[in-house]
Amino acid sequence: MKLIVNIKELVGILPEGVVRKQGSEMDDVTSIGNAFLSFQDGKITDFGTMDDCPAEETADEVIDASGRLVMPMFCDSHTHICYAGSREQEFIDKINGLDYAQIAARGGGILNSADLLHRTSEEDLYDQTMSRVREMIGKGSGAIEIKSGYGLSTEDELKMLRVIKKVRENSPALIKATFLGAHAIGRAYSGRRDEYVDLVCKEMIPAVALGGLAEFVDVFCDEGFFTPEETERILEAGSSHGLVPKIHANELACSGGVQVGTAFNALSVDHLERTTQAEIEALQDKKTMPTMLPGSSFFLGMPYGKAKEFIADGLGVALASDYNPGSSPSGDMRFVMALGCIKMRLTPNQAFNACTVNSAYAMGVSDVAGSITRGKRASLIITKPVPSLAFIPYCHQTPFIERIII
Ligand code: NIG
Ligand code: FE
Repeated sequence: MKLIVNIKELVGILPEGVVRKQGSEMDDVTSIGNAFLSFQDGKITDFGTMDDCPAEETADEVIDASGRLVMPMFCDSHTHICYAGSREQEFIDKINGLDYAQIAARGGGILNSADLLHRTSEEDLYDQTMSRVREMIGKGSGAIEIKSGYGLSTEDELKMLRVIKKVRENSPALIKATFLGAHAIGRAYSGRRDEYVDLVCKEMIPAVALGGLAEFVDVFCDEGFFTPEETERILEAGSSHGLVPKIHANELACSGGVQVGTAFNALSVDHLERTTQAEIEALQDKKTMPTMLPGSSFFLGMPYGKAKEFIADGLGVALASDYNPGSSPSGDMRFVMALGCIKMRLTPNQAFNACTVNSAYAMGVSDVAGSITRGKRASLIITKPVPSLAFIPYCHQTPFIERIII
């Protein structure tokens, strides 16, 4: 048993069985001052105030956390970190005036990454992905969802998903895989979109399911990408093969993707830079977690999701990084939390819940991650000496992690 003692504040405690927070529940973060926490075999075994701390002699290792916070590691429920190379030329094109949709329309963007990935060996792709996972763990993420979607042919989509599987087997982080064959129409299918959707439904999805390579199916349901009708076909095929839907929607337009997602009991609908009251209504009383990606709003200069309105209407909100080479080349969940506060006007408590328990829910792991709960994974951040939780998004460039336990 390992023991952390003298914790100034143990932050993010939840009772067993709470899997997400909605509406005003998002205002609360339960903490204990002057606390201890014990863990064994990778799981949290106990915690409480120092008055109830077990004798230090009973522990294999004692970690003194005087002046420090201990909190659950972040959960990043939406990433595209299995990609090859980088796209800084498009970054320069954007600076010079092109927007994301214009770059995509002239064959850049996702198709550019697909070409690069096609030319990259599986080993090299694994090394690149693993190094991003290591970078993200160092920045405090303990659970990471990773999407395919830069293959866009059966062969290359399966290559990506095999890489993600190997990352899952070799990384201490909790990894979940999402099949995103419908990220763009593959170059070979240009002008033949129905045939591409057929390929996704009839060849890719069965192959992914047969190999046990993903738990989720995602579609980029947005203007210029896939229509709600195409999305329905793909989610139907995915659901019939046991893949749970997650959706990209409302990044470029009010796409109808939120409504398709909730109709198919999607675990999450993600992006949501552009929404109206209709999306809020579609999400009421649903199991679907609205997930906002402020890193891509920041990077592309798009509107930020209306998280405060969602919460005021009783919904939960999750935040994730969207780490990818085109719209959000960063997997720093602390920065995401800071953007949640600074740009979306979430309180630090709301942003913390959005980056922990709710993002755990949005990737199907909130039974084992996302809070300080007995029996959950001991994936913890021990902070540097900081005055409070709010300091973390406030002084958002000051290093705050002293030690990661994962
Ligand atoms: O979530 N919007 C669609 N997909 C990614 C971007 C992918 C890319 O540009 O490479 C996103 O922002
Ligand atoms: Fe994305």
